[in-house]
Amino acid sequence: MKWRLAVSVAVSMALSPALAETQSPFGHHPLTPQARDAFVSSLLTKMTNDEKIGQLRLISVGPDNPKEAIREMIKEGQVGAIFNTVTRKDIRAMQDQVMALSRLKIPLFFAYDVVHGQRTIFPINLGLASTFNLDSARVVGEVSAREAADDGLNMTWAPMVDVSRDPRWGRVSEGFGEDTYLTAIMGRTLVESMQGKSPADRYSLMTSVKHFAAYGAVEGGKEYNTVDMSPQRLFNDYMPPYKAALDAGSGGVMVALNSVNGTPSTADSWLLKDLLRDQWGFKGITISDHGAIKELIKHGVASDPKDAVRVAINAGINMSMSDEYYSKYLPELLKSGAVSQQELDDATRHVLNVKYDMGLFNDPYSHLGPKESDPADTNAESRLHRDAARQVARESLVLLKNRLNTLPLSKSGTIAVVGPLADSKRDIMGSWSAAGVADQSVTVLQGIKNVVGDKATVHYAKGANVTDDKGAVAFLNEYEPAVTLDKRSPQAMLDDAVKTASQSDVIVAVVGESQGMAHEASSRTDISIPASQQALLAALKKTGKPLVVVLMNGRPLTLVKEDQLADALLETWFAGTEGGNAIADVLFGDDNPSGKLPMSFPRSVGQIPVYYSHLNTGRPYNADKPDKYTSRYFDEVNAPLYPFGYGLSYTTFSVSPVTMSAPTMDKKGQVTASVTVTNTGKRQGATAVQLYLQDVTASMSRPVKMLRGFRKVNLKPGQSTTVNFPIDVHALTFWNARMQQVAEPGKFNVFIGLDSARVQ
Ligand code: NOJ
Repeated sequence: MKWRLAVSVAVSMALSPALAETQSPFGHHPLTPQARDAFVSSLLTKMTNDEKIGQLRLISVGPDNPKEAIREMIKEGQVGAIFNTVTRKDIRAMQDQVMALSRLKIPLFFAYDVVHGQRTIFPINLGLASTFNLDSARVVGEVSAREAADDGLNMTWAPMVDVSRDPRWGRVSEGFGEDTYLTAIMGRTLVESMQGKSPADRYSLMTSVKHFAAYGAVEGGKEYNTVDMSPQRLFNDYMPPYKAALDAGSGGVMVALNSVNGTPSTADSWLLKDLLRDQWGFKGITISDHGAIKELIKHGVASDPKDAVRVAINAGINMSMSDEYYSKYLPELLKSGAVSQQELDDATRHVLNVKYDMGLFNDPYSHLGPKESDPADTNAESRLHRDAARQVARESLVLLKNRLNTLPLSKSGTIAVVGPLADSKRDIMGSWSAAGVADQSVTVLQGIKNVVGDKATVHYAKGANVTDDKGAVAFLNEYEPAVTLDKRSPQAMLDDAVKTASQSDVIVAVVGESQGMAHEASSRTDISIPASQQALLAALKKTGKPLVVVLMNGRPLTLVKEDQLADALLETWFAGTEGGNAIADVLFGDDNPSGKLPMSFPRSVGQIPVYYSHLNTGRPYNADKPDKYTSRYFDEVNAPLYPFGYGLSYTTFSVSPVTMSAPTMDKKGQVTASVTVTNTGKRQGATAVQLYLQDVTASMSRPVKMLRGFRKVNLKPGQSTTVNFPIDVHALTFWNARMQQVAEPGKFNVFIGLDSARVQ
């Protein structure tokens, strides 16, 4: 599937090379590594140590650093890059100051959290992963880069490729879920599509993969917590996505706030030098996460701020995000010899290198163009890419249950749309919604109205607050007003909703989490739908009307009760600017859902971690022949409520037994596993066919199943297609007990199916 990108006015106003040359104080240089090294080496010889230190500072404009203070820093060469400034006007003003006021005129670069869109907000990444479609990821990457570069930005703090198997962690919403392979391939595709041929191109954006390393494995899913794991697990399960993003050319790495095996990543020279630079050959920049350098004191690996700077720069942190410590303490540390000149020069070189790769020395205004081309209205409708957003959002929706074909609904009669999230423009955008404007997003209520037009009557009742828990509300509203409590009493809201539902033919209840409940610093121990909304669902159920539950949330939730209550359950994550339209397309059958879960949905918090690719034990539990002395809970089944890779359709598919092109393969060879997939239902539909492998007997225990390929197929009723999965040695390698990367000869099981539990 391909989408065309809308071409904004600024495309035709891209700078001609001639103009670019005249605007650069440095002349024009070819974008090759050789030319870059020569250029940067020569520039370094002209810089004072203070100017070098200035290049290592990444500043966020805000109350701590007002624009006037930044102007002074720019004048003194005391800032290398800016983040959180997102309009061409503001960016141009700062770059103008560099050109007018600073001695060496080294351009700033501008960065932002463009995590799932810039102005057009796409589904959160957990939703993007649910598409199991790399074309969707490519569209998201290209559109996000285009819009961000059109705003003057040069870099994004994305993709976030932290594998996570703990839905208590609020940041699972930002990543691609529990699986190493899916996360790696999604991350790689985003890097390729955002950086394009070169981050210097007018509409490309340099990426900064994060959070290095293993942030998704924080103990207990508690934000900023410790990570402790075996090197085998680290390298087999958590490292591959970072490596894939770097192999795809990501220019930046954001370093994680957590420690791994006792050493904070920000202080880990093994991680940032031995592994990242020496073994993986990374040439870009490392950036500390917000405030991470001073946090080294609380981690207990630095005695005071000066010591923290010494530890961080010596560990390999090139650029410091949002603190003044590098500029305050590096001069003394250099003088005392605690930080060597070489260390400072190396860090500065990395920063200058990426600026060179961004094309900023050829044209500091390369993502700005001439002033006259600035959009009159930054938030203009014409700057959005709604068609692409609607298409990706449709593909991200996962149908979890559909009793007696409750869905699709017919566009007739009276429909009750109920729930605190049904008409929330803000929540549907999800966390990290960049420069997205809530007013421009389409809610579920609006989407349903758009799609049914005058064919049906639509009534709305809020029914409940997102939560009535005062502590939770205070927490969610601590930094900004995010959740509002209705003036009516909970009972009055409930009564209103029941009345509305009773007068309708069907109920669409939109429930789940508010945007802020699945965000940075939003860990939960209870991952059920909040009590206020559970009460609403129970009351709605009593009306006896068909109950369609539309879930909006940024993590797997425990949904045993809802699974029993609902006639149909549609997981929509936070679907973005066009979310409401896309959800309505699926509810009314204009589109057939095809999303698959990128994380297992536990039955209860006590099951966590529950993930499909676990190791076998010596006493595996067998559900068909349960035995006491096997690996199990006695008060809960082992299987999740919905497994990884699961998702229904309005049609049905069959998968033939797997055939292999050959029964054996040698190390340099390849075999192909094939199945025939048939649409056995009555509607056209798409599904993600998934390949899993198992290394049956190896020198160490290997997962019971590992995803190693997927293909989305779209079939008409009765149509069949053969899906081939080539398998070579790369699919079989792992880090063994001696930390050698090996592929061991032996027997491998090959499974193909439509989710991780139902395989052939
Ligand atoms: C802290 C977050 O951990 C990181 O992901 C983000 O990029 C930075 N803040 C900047 O906003």
